[in-house]
Amino acid sequence: MDKKLITSVKKGYKDLYKTDPLCVFSPGRINIIGEHTDYNNGYVLPAAIDKGIVLAIGKSDSNHSTITSIDMNDQMVLNFEELERIDANNWKNYIIGVIAEIFKKGKVVPNFNCVFAGNIPVGSGLSSSAALENSLAFGCNELFNLGFSKKELIYISQSAEHNYVGVNCGIMDQFASMFGEKDKALFLDCKYIKTETIPVNLNDYEIILINSNVKHALAESEYNNRYAVCQKIVNLLNKPSLREVSYEDLSSVRDKITESEYKKGLYILQENERVIDCKEALKNNDLLRVGELLFQSHEGQSKMYDISCKELDFLVNVAKQSDSVIGARMMGGGFGGCTINVVLKNESEHFKNEVSEAYKLELDNECSIYSVVLSEGTQLIK
Ligand code: GLA
Repeated sequence: MDKKLITSVKKGYKDLYKTDPLCVFSPGRINIIGEHTDYNNGYVLPAAIDKGIVLAIGKSDSNHSTITSIDMNDQMVLNFEELERIDANNWKNYIIGVIAEIFKKGKVVPNFNCVFAGNIPVGSGLSSSAALENSLAFGCNELFNLGFSKKELIYISQSAEHNYVGVNCGIMDQFASMFGEKDKALFLDCKYIKTETIPVNLNDYEIILINSNVKHALAESEYNNRYAVCQKIVNLLNKPSLREVSYEDLSSVRDKITESEYKKGLYILQENERVIDCKEALKNNDLLRVGELLFQSHEGQSKMYDISCKELDFLVNVAKQSDSVIGARMMGGGFGGCTINVVLKNESEHFKNEVSEAYKLELDNECSIYSVVLSEGTQLIK
């Protein structure tokens, strides 16, 4: 955890409210494999990371609540009588959403003051939004003894995203951010919310993330559009979700959907298989197989599910051509953000230079490179 970040959030709170707050850390996440499978009741393999949101929260005697984002240099005053979504992209919708969803569960949240900041690059696909939702839901639950389980809290966070942010996301991000474990990935069956923790021993390799530093404007509407395509197929087949759909089922409706919709359905079926394969490969320490699956996954995301972009394709191609990289793919919702790469440790510096130069030359833009440490999920900071 970033001590400086914790100190600055605590100080921010104390300067404003002169009392000691309760402090929560909620991490972002990576995803090794299993993209867009979560809202199809499929499998994913994410892990929480050491970057996230620090949120300080305390009770307030006034008739409203104030929430301060240090990073945005912005403050909101929240009146619980008026929990309406704000138009357009606004961090305040995450706050409004979480509080409104807690109220919908019949619990009363008294007024509070809160200050937060983070070290997850926004728009990088590392789920700063789930980290923010979870930190607030967890903080309110602790401060006011609301009695929610961690599992209930992640559904509150997810509903906030559905109903107040407007993204029909699955449960992966909130789950990984809440339940992450040190040095482990979480194999999650999104149909039953059943997990298996998978130790990640990378031996001579390491995971590095390369941020394309682009976030295409279409990302959210395209995300919802993919959700709609999957729903269309499921409805035609009269099945609860794509999890219950076989390759034969999908073929049986091929003439009722477009070729592009067919490919999207097929991608989900194949990606679910890759997640299971990847979990086994990790358990068997077969990193070359893990890498192969990552490259295949990217191919599907780019050519079938159509959620990549030229920047992400370029980064994965550079990785593919490098002898130091055994696997890479775009990560998260798509249309920008990061790629995840499995790279030989003692050659990673060389690869980082190579990829940065190539990116600059080809796309006239800087990429950012991060190492990640797999870490514990949402927790109180003592
Ligand atoms: C976003 C969503 C997740 C998941 C990924 C894609 O991060 O929030 O629920 O669907 O995209 O795998």
